[in-house]
Amino acid sequence: MIVLGIETSCDETAAAVVSGEREILSNVILSQLDDHRPYGGVVPEIASRAHVQHLDGIIERAMREAGATYGDLAGIAATAGPGLIGGVMVGLVTGKAIAASASRPLIAVNHLEGHALSVRLTDGIDFPYLLLLVSGGHCQLVEVEGVGAYRRLGTTIDDAIGEAFDKTAKMLGLEYPGGPAVERMALTGDPTRFSLPRPLRGRPGCDFSFSGLKTAVRHAVAGLTDGVPEENDAADLAASFQAAVGDVLADRSAHALEAYVERHPQDRVLVIAGGVAANGFLRTRMEAVCADHDFRMLAPPPDLCTDNAAMIAWAGLERLRFGLTDPLDAPARARWPLEEVMRPLP
Ligand code: KG4
Ligand code: ZN
Repeated sequence: MIVLGIETSCDETAAAVVSGEREILSNVILSQLDDHRPYGGVVPEIASRAHVQHLDGIIERAMREAGATYGDLAGIAATAGPGLIGGVMVGLVTGKAIAASASRPLIAVNHLEGHALSVRLTDGIDFPYLLLLVSGGHCQLVEVEGVGAYRRLGTTIDDAIGEAFDKTAKMLGLEYPGGPAVERMALTGDPTRFSLPRPLRGRPGCDFSFSGLKTAVRHAVAGLTDGVPEENDAADLAASFQAAVGDVLADRSAHALEAYVERHPQDRVLVIAGGVAANGFLRTRMEAVCADHDFRMLAPPPDLCTDNAAMIAWAGLERLRFGLTDPLDAPARARWPLEEVMRPLP
């Protein structure tokens, strides 16, 4: 059983073919970084146009590398949201056209479910597990009990974590995309030079907050001579920022581990996924938290943490096994919380 996945919800135009035996037969990603870099962030209209221009060729390449024809597919899985609506529409309508012409089922995949299930593709683990989903648009702790069976324990009450990385990068004068730039810069920085807040640390519950941290970075930059960070200032601020984010993730996740383990004492696995999970410093930090709580930590390899179509094809396969397919008028959605793809929990 093989499925074609299509991902166009942000600034990656991607297509992949994945088998039910967890083989990635092809995984093609075209990054639009160079198109957006002059603007310091993703420009939705430029993203939509680039998806229109490149998607057909990317799909063709994914099919060719997999050695597959449309007739071989068990289904076509396309991201239907959440994301930049123009891009989502391009991918979804393309998926629908292939599904209609090849008479194959369409699976309209929630992008967050793609991230949530990707570790089952890479590591083949069983349900349940606790998920820390950290991406450009989200920061959530979720109990993953099965396909479409998600219990959200906490979420950000203001900014997403990736957004905090991207905005911090901008204030430090680093290039877009911000996350990898901050991580690189932090390698040579002193994480104790700037005393930044750890929002919500020590409070009950599992919610996150990052806007105060972002503001503190802005004030720290303003407090530098001329308000312009020199190379060593930027490195120290990046390291201080990353240390604060690590402390926040550790504190909030520890609460979630404790809540989760009451319900699942035998299944002590924490999965981190989403673009920010590509961050080596945060992976190491979370590994230590897991060791303290007698949990195993798993994360997809960095290139499957950031956006890709293999995870969309895989989520499609997982849903297809339950007969969860979608009609050809399935809507593209800018906003689509993970709770809304849930099957009712007992
Ligand atoms: O999952 P993703 O590729 O797209 C969304 O679904 O949002 O996540 C993108 C986010 C961006 O904010 C990017 O800066 C961040 O992930 N990111 C990182 C790293 N690589 C990507 N953040 C911190 N460290 C990284 N190495
Ligand atoms: Zn993503």
